[in-house]
Amino acid sequence: MHGNKELPWQPTQASAALEMANISESSPKDHVMSEIHLGCPPKFSGSFISHFAFSLPRDVEYIGSKYEYQVFDDSKHNQEVSLDDDGDLALPRRSKYSKDNLVVAIQHNITSSIPNVGLQVWRAELVLSDFVLHKMFTTSEFDGVVAVELGAGTGLVGMLLARVAKTVFLTDHGVEILENCARNVHLNSVMLPSKTSVHVRELDWKTSWPPNQGKSVSCQSYAWNLSEIKELERASLLLAADVIYSDDLTDALFSILQRLMAHGINKVLYLALEKRYNFSLDDLDVVANGYSRFRSYVRDEIDDGEYRKLQNRTLCSFVGRQIDLTNIPRYAKNYDRGQDVELWEIRLAKEL
Ligand SMILES: C[S@@+](CC[C@H](N)C(=O)[O-])C[C@H]1O[C@@H](n2cnc3c(N)ncnc32)[C@H](O)[C@@H]1O
Repeated sequence: MHGNKELPWQPTQASAALEMANISESSPKDHVMSEIHLGCPPKFSGSFISHFAFSLPRDVEYIGSKYEYQVFDDSKHNQEVSLDDDGDLALPRRSKYSKDNLVVAIQHNITSSIPNVGLQVWRAELVLSDFVLHKMFTTSEFDGVVAVELGAGTGLVGMLLARVAKTVFLTDHGVEILENCARNVHLNSVMLPSKTSVHVRELDWKTSWPPNQGKSVSCQSYAWNLSEIKELERASLLLAADVIYSDDLTDALFSILQRLMAHGINKVLYLALEKRYNFSLDDLDVVANGYSRFRSYVRDEIDDGEYRKLQNRTLCSFVGRQIDLTNIPRYAKNYDRGQDVELWEIRLAKEL
């Protein structure tokens, strides 16, 4: 709702993040803080390199540049006893590349101004990481995909996906955020398979799409070339975490999603968002205004049949399904998932 006067609801540790929903983008002096301060020294506020560890499931082998999905049948191993050439007992061993963890180095800020929130890691990015890893470990759906992360910030999710994808575009806007993201790609270059292309590119939801190759970007290093724009049309997977916090931005995001998803092959968006509650003086109640704006664009898949029968349909171009997070294991270590993060699978609605 526009024009509402809102007060932060609770002065908790998370209140700075909650306030993010209240402060307009034009308040660069105001600083906000995410809850993800992994490994940072206390009271540290600048840029820091943390190592985000993700546990690999027991039945997943880490071989060279890709995960191998191999289920170990321990019962069989227990029963079979064999001897090697020297007559010694041969014990079944896992590959020497086997690891328990996957570690990603991320340069991130502990606090930032509102326009630079992309320098921080937000809780929804870790929830989306858990989901992407779960898909990677349990299905081949993401193998060889062309994917785009929107509002990628530090680029964590996109880099995890790069383990199995063909091409990943990590997109955001503003030189500082793009440079930080590119630095993270560089920091993790050993982990990224050489056959996967990872591009850091400027994709500002508020400018026109397709971009005027190089002219609409704030830095030439992050400009798109023609073949990348063509490749983007072949993208089947879009990812975004914590990009719902200002109504203006939500409008701009869904406007560019409409254009991106209408072109090329069918695309699915996985969007993780944090529902932020504020006390509204107008409503005299606690409301999640950013969330309401998001829901005005996305109607429930389950209601789709009923919706199509309505005479006076509002313009609602996307159909979504909320994913039950209780079915997604926590692979990211040392974080609290919280109660207020939702994960959505969103597609462009078919013509009515
Ligand atoms: C809260 S941060 C989330 C960053 C990251 N996805 C995470 O969850 O850690 C919101 C992201 O949206 C990006 N963003 C904001 N306005 C944008 C715009 N007009 N075009 C593209 N990205 C934008 C910010 O730069 C930032 O990276």
